[in-house]
Amino acid sequence: MRNLVLGIESSCDDTAAALVDAAGAVVASVKVAQTEVHRPYGGVYPELASRAHVAEIVPALHQTLADAGVGVEQIRAIGVTRGPGLIGPLLVGLNTAAGLGLGWELPVIGINHLRGHLRSADLEEARVKYPATILLVSGGHTILAYMEDPASIRLLGTTRDDSVGEAYDKVGRMLGLGYPGGPAVDRLAKTGTPSIRFPRPMIQQGLDFSLSGLKSAVSRHLEQAPDPRHEDVAASFVEAILELLVTKCRRALAEQPSQSLVIVGGVAASPQLRAAAAELCAELDVELCLPPLRWATDNAAMIALATWDYIEQGQQPRPVPDVRLSIVDY
Ligand code: KG4
Ligand code: ZN
Repeated sequence: MRNLVLGIESSCDDTAAALVDAAGAVVASVKVAQTEVHRPYGGVYPELASRAHVAEIVPALHQTLADAGVGVEQIRAIGVTRGPGLIGPLLVGLNTAAGLGLGWELPVIGINHLRGHLRSADLEEARVKYPATILLVSGGHTILAYMEDPASIRLLGTTRDDSVGEAYDKVGRMLGLGYPGGPAVDRLAKTGTPSIRFPRPMIQQGLDFSLSGLKSAVSRHLEQAPDPRHEDVAASFVEAILELLVTKCRRALAEQPSQSLVIVGGVAASPQLRAAAAELCAELDVELCLPPLRWATDNAAMIALATWDYIEQGQQPRPVPDVRLSIVDY
């Protein structure tokens, strides 16, 4: 019985594969992170990411099938991240999927990576109460979206420049905290006082974000203050970020009432953000949904779940052998 979708994700610095059923149950999920490859460079080095994907993708697929203990005859389709992402890493996943589709005579569906993130909170169990407002904050993305139901996604806002995770990482680097900076900035912030009033760009209106001005203000402060206290800089930066995120979420929830607020992406690991979101949701009587971090950060199971959405809408991807035509965008 063909009751599983094989998901493949390689858009940035994680090589991932997963097998997921139509209800979102994760039968197997493998993720090979490249953090140590990129750490010396203070950020993702695209060519090294591509090379690591080439080395890891086939072993990751073997491992996924072995963990699940299933054969190809149980796979209904292959869903692969089509973009956005780094072009070299994406090509590794796409070509692998196309090859498997041809060899196994399975349809291949190109999935928008953001669509995967926005569905990630429903992996393993249906956690999200719809309609929902979703904040995705990671190293690569910052978006606010509204979902009436799992299949209808409306983009409400996005960043005009840096992502939230990027801002954390850049400030972490300025403070000499290494890569990735997010967790270290959060930890340092807890020991300081938010005594510096950094700007909150675009806080007054709209649902878009802008973070490069805040990052530059931190950099200027570190250059100009006679003896900057790093813990106070971190605390003031985190305070500004939280105020920005909470204000935008509050505005989004006011504009389109939702039953739940969902936060996904690596920055959802921030204890300060989790606490601020809990406070907001308690005040507004909205359910807060924080899925396990293994699904909130990049993974292939979310790509497989989005593939099921596509299949269940009755879309019939073209069968191989013409692989070029069999890859459709969703
Ligand atoms: O989703 P993710 O693992 O990878 C992608 O970017 O796709 O997100 C990584 C980002 C990094 O920028 C990292 O600094 C940030 O998430 N991050 C945090 C925390 N843990 C990870 N940011 C703030 N506080 C944290 N505790
Ligand atoms: Zn991502």
